[in-house]
Amino acid sequence: MSNEQQVRIYNPSEEMVKNAAVSGMDGYRALCKEAEDDYEGFWGRRAKELLDWKEPFTQVLDESNAPFFKWFADGKLNVSYNCLDRNVNNGLGDKVALIFEADNGDVTKVTYKDLLARVSKFANALRGMGVKKGDRVVIYLPMSIEGVVAMQACARVGATHSIVFGGFSAQALRDRIEDAGAVALITSDGQHRGGKALPLKPIADEALSLGGCDTIKNVVVVKRTGGDCNIVAGRDVWFHDACEGQSEVCEPEWVEAEHPLFILYTSGSTGKPKGVQHSSGGYLLQAVLSMKYSFDIKLDDIFWCTADIGWVTGHTFISYGPLACGATEIVFEGVPTYPDAGRFWKMIQDHKVTIFYTAPTAIRSLIKAADNNPAVHPTKYDLSSLRLLGSVGEPINPAAWQWYYDNVGGGRCPIVDTFWQTETGAHVITPMPGATPMVPGSCTLPFPGIQAAVVDETGTEVPWGQGGILVIKRPWPSMIRTIWGDPERFKKSYYPEDFKGKLYLAGDGAIRDVETGYFTITGRIDDVLNVSGHRMGTMEIESALVAHEKVAEAAVVGRPDDVTGEAIVAFVVLKGPRPTGDEAAAVIKELQNWVGHEIGPIAKPKDIRFGENLPKTRSGKIMRRLLRQLAKGEDVTQDTSTLENPHILEQLKG
Ligand code: WT7
Repeated sequence: MSNEQQVRIYNPSEEMVKNAAVSGMDGYRALCKEAEDDYEGFWGRRAKELLDWKEPFTQVLDESNAPFFKWFADGKLNVSYNCLDRNVNNGLGDKVALIFEADNGDVTKVTYKDLLARVSKFANALRGMGVKKGDRVVIYLPMSIEGVVAMQACARVGATHSIVFGGFSAQALRDRIEDAGAVALITSDGQHRGGKALPLKPIADEALSLGGCDTIKNVVVVKRTGGDCNIVAGRDVWFHDACEGQSEVCEPEWVEAEHPLFILYTSGSTGKPKGVQHSSGGYLLQAVLSMKYSFDIKLDDIFWCTADIGWVTGHTFISYGPLACGATEIVFEGVPTYPDAGRFWKMIQDHKVTIFYTAPTAIRSLIKAADNNPAVHPTKYDLSSLRLLGSVGEPINPAAWQWYYDNVGGGRCPIVDTFWQTETGAHVITPMPGATPMVPGSCTLPFPGIQAAVVDETGTEVPWGQGGILVIKRPWPSMIRTIWGDPERFKKSYYPEDFKGKLYLAGDGAIRDVETGYFTITGRIDDVLNVSGHRMGTMEIESALVAHEKVAEAAVVGRPDDVTGEAIVAFVVLKGPRPTGDEAAAVIKELQNWVGHEIGPIAKPKDIRFGENLPKTRSGKIMRRLLRQLAKGEDVTQDTSTLENPHILEQLKG
């Protein structure tokens, strides 16, 4: 490595190299070469080998309507069949598929046979309500067995699901229901988190009352917390009542490989979230391949991805990838800090977890917790079952990597720092645990078959060692197909004219190491923030703020944060006079709660500052780079000569 600071390199153990699916760098390079020499052959062979097809495909990749690429288009399959029936048929019926641990510690195990029966019953119930192939179903559920069942049941009947994270507000839920034109909503009475029972159905009811949700014909309610729950006759039905008496056999709907398995909304650089549309065949193929190559999944592994099913990580690494591999996995309802910050470590110990996949923000908060309370330090638990660790969602800083490696992995487990996105569907840059020498803070090299590069504004590759824009040069099977209902926005966002429509624009900056070619992600290059591994659009938060009656104008930027990666800072101009002291504190609280109510608690600005105006150029453009400096508490060193109103910088210093 060329960097002046000493960079430690961690080689995979001999045992890992010997047993891993991708064995040694020779093994990795051979796969890359196979894909380079025969791109379609590489993906086609794996699609045949790793998925069960009802009707085989004859064409691998169809580029005739680029960038709307099609994969395995004339093949037919069913995702739920591939995740469930096929395992049962292969003798895994009595194997545990899900180990569900509730917030209060109760454990429920569900075998593949049992999961297939539960999914079939609910799929039959959905069919009974008239839900059919191509219909959209919105799922607004906490982490639960029913959450996985609902997703799988949609896949079984060919309905396209759209999960809305349980922490999103009524308004956010309404927007997504309307955009997707959903026919059904699956929710629960409430959810357990950190020892508290929180209501969910009232938020769903509020969303449905906001207007624009007339497409919803049925609401299915999972009973989780119990107690009073509003059930609207003729519209709402309890999940258990809907499943009661249904057959445990349900013929899957065989769909084309391109059939949309799901839409998942994510933040972009404009106000409106984008409905990222994924396919069935190509998506599932790479969910499986990521499990095999990046996680080296074996039949006796206990796999735990701590993400929520509301995010893409939960889709690929809870609801689909592990099940399609016949794995045993943990589904966790609770939070990492309840009953104490040793919860993750205790669960790894109790369930003998072998592969653990979490986010840097969780690691950083657990480092803090362990520093403050030695009793919850990971070394106080027996974590000897672990053999592989993963990180996802944001760059992992080398110090957190080292702590994770030493204290959780006991210095023996490789860490796969997996770079990917809602849009990529599966891993695109990541170490192979039995091959790639690891460097803390780098996601290392592309997944076999993925052609990632770093380019300048014209789309020309820059030399290693020089920062630039991360792109992917060829389409890949699990990529986003379009933005639901907005193909033009898909083209503009991901295949921009600057690159002649030929390169996939990830939205991140990256730099490759001069000697190894390893990728390091340098952060988003658009107006998207990453707070605790969650993607938030600055414009989305600004729109929410200006929707408040007191707010005239708002600009939102990110500032680095020790625990959450980035923190949200809002600069606000009120319609009335600029508040100070106690009055300012009260308005800050009010606006934070407002944003929490408009979007969800994850979008609440950590810091709000008031000015009589925002720093603007003479043409009226807000100078965001300047705001970013102010947010960090730095003195403004930038050229402010184009600034119309320099005096307001003083007010916004915070
Ligand atoms: C953005 C995608 C798909 C994972 C969950 C987040 C950032 C993700 C890494 C990583 C550096 C990362 C990028 C990316 N990101 N993983 N290993 N190293 N950055 O999915 O919400 O679609 O966000 O998360 O900025 O563009 P997402």
